[in-house]
Amino acid sequence: MANHAAERPLEIFPINGLPEFRPGDDLTGTIASAAPWLRSGDILVVTSKIVSKVEGRLIKVPADPEARAAARRWLVSEESVRTVARIKQTLITQNKLGIVQAAAGVDTSNVASDEIAMLPADPDASALALRNGLRERLGIEVAVLITDTMGRTWRIGQTDAAIGSSGLRVLHGYAGQSDAQGNELQVTEIAVADELAAAADLVKGKTGNAPVAVVRGMTISDDGSVAKDLIRPLDEDLFRLGTAEATEQGRREAVLLRRSVRYFADTEVDPDAMRRAVGAALTAPAPHHTRPVRFVWLRDQALRKRLLAEMEHAWRADLRADGWDEQRVDRRIRRGGLLHEATELVVPFLVRTGSHEYPDERRATAERDMFTIASGAAVQGLLIALAAEQLGSCWVSSTLFCPDVVREVLDIDPSWEPLGAVAVGHPADGELSPRPPRELTEGLVEL
Ligand SMILES: Cc1cc2nc3c(=O)[nH]c(=O)nc-3n(C[C@H](O)[C@H](O)[C@H](O)COP(=O)(O)O)c2cc1C
Repeated sequence: MANHAAERPLEIFPINGLPEFRPGDDLTGTIASAAPWLRSGDILVVTSKIVSKVEGRLIKVPADPEARAAARRWLVSEESVRTVARIKQTLITQNKLGIVQAAAGVDTSNVASDEIAMLPADPDASALALRNGLRERLGIEVAVLITDTMGRTWRIGQTDAAIGSSGLRVLHGYAGQSDAQGNELQVTEIAVADELAAAADLVKGKTGNAPVAVVRGMTISDDGSVAKDLIRPLDEDLFRLGTAEATEQGRREAVLLRRSVRYFADTEVDPDAMRRAVGAALTAPAPHHTRPVRFVWLRDQALRKRLLAEMEHAWRADLRADGWDEQRVDRRIRRGGLLHEATELVVPFLVRTGSHEYPDERRATAERDMFTIASGAAVQGLLIALAAEQLGSCWVSSTLFCPDVVREVLDIDPSWEPLGAVAVGHPADGELSPRPPRELTEGLVEL
């Protein structure tokens, strides 16, 4: 295209004297009559609203403001294929055209108070039709842009952008070219169609009296591209979710992010992340306002080593007593390797302080179980909170089978009951990603 740095000045002027358009009106004929001075090479920039009107994209709704607003909300949901963000009253969605925009382009401005305007069904096709029509009527070759007003994610205020285009290259890529200082422009790609749309809006204005402007003086080339080519594909959109939606998805996926990680990368674990996770885990539900769980984080490597050595000793004794031969014992002990290899190790303990006493076995057992299950909830909480910090973990039984050894080595109160151990670290095979939820099958019984 485009003399993007124009070789001669650009002119932008409105087409004056256009009527109020209604469904079925001849847009091409009206423009041709109002602007017989149009020439080949002109770029016609047309507000989408009048295209919507002539194409009958007006929906009759009640004039009552509340009912009209409700109808608009319904139309927005009908037109939207994906919600991107919700900010107070504003809903940003991707509409059926692929355009990400406030309210899916469903608009109440510049239409009667009992009408709502939808975007043209296929704005690129509308642009092509107008271009072909003007060629027929006036024997000229113009380019046509159909525009709509849009907010910009990182900037205050709206500008016009091209939602339909025919007859000009919508993007001007500078890749491979150098600037005046010799720096190679690697990613610069100018959305010329959007720039033209915004520039033309300066003469069209928003009050509806000049819905069409003409840009003259631009050297145009046509590579067959259309406005749809300006829509960023979803998989290239770094911000495909709004803040609220991303938060919502993160919450939903927190539990699904956890899985048992048994191999860890050689990278340090941020102590603050550990503390945050333990803080979250300590919010687990517990009976009688008790705090039944203590997380003992083994930061002293010598102590950890001694604990693991003593535990191994105890397990070996157990397995030998079971009649296992040394080879088999060795194989079983090797399974505990992850406790040595994990970047961090946490031993959760159950503390039954505050549990109620009962004279009968039934209630005493229920009370015991209540504390035991509460401790499990806290440990699961820890694993999930660690996963949310992108830390892998594996809860292993280990200490459960040699509680005396654990208490002795760690010099811990004899009433504390170890609940296994939690190996923690960055997963060796990269970031954690959520897995799908399990099939409900027998897992959910709805009565
Ligand atoms: C109380 C408890 C003890 C466990 N002990 C071990 C263990 O000793 N060694 C081990 O590799 N995994 C152990 N696990 C982890 C399970 O093997 C693991 O949760 C299961 O395979 C499901 O995999 P997932 O955690 O990735 O969903 C234990 C889990 C729990 C809840």
